[in-house]
Amino acid sequence: MTEKQKKPWKPGKRDLLFLGIIATVVIALVLGTSERKTTPTPNDDVHRTTTSKAECLACHGADGISPRQVKHTQVDKCFLCHAQPDGWVGDKK
Ligand code: HEC
Ligand code: HEC
Repeated sequence: MTEKQKKPWKPGKRDLLFLGIIATVVIALVLGTSERKTTPTPNDDVHRTTTSKAECLACHGADGISPRQVKHTQVDKCFLCHAQPDGWVGDKK
């Protein structure tokens, strides 16, 4: 903020400015959330029929054909972040 306030203080305008800032922040957060989607699980035969973490990690573990990055989370529930493919054969949710 380099601009100096020269006008006399007006509560009404300040309140509006304050509300405007809050609205901007809230909108930015909401938009940011929707952009933060993780790569969905690919919709192919392999991924439609894989239903256990052990199977996922057979390919995506450190020794698999498509290992995850070293810094990848150790959280077990893959589908918490990676959306299930259409036509997935496992449990509903
Ligand atoms: C038979 C091996 C195999 C199994 C099992 C498997 N994957 Fe994959 N997966 C791959 C391969 C290979 C790729 C990369 C090529 C592609 O996009 O199809 C991939 C891609 C992905 C991607 C996207 C990666 C990218 O770069 O876009 C995600 C996310 C993913 N798998 C998650 C999972 C999850 C979750 C499971 C368990 C439900 C799983 N995979 C099971 C082999 C497997
Ligand atoms: C806490 C959220 C979270 C969970 C749980 C999670 N992942 Fe990920 N995964 C990510 C993020 C974030 C990335 C980075 C790339 C991206 O934005 O998709 C990623 C990347 C990947 C990639 C590489 C694809 C790419 O785009 O770089 C694979 C493969 C993968 N995850 C598989 C799995 C498997 C298998 C499991 C379950 C054992 C799992 N993930 C659980 C968040 C998660």
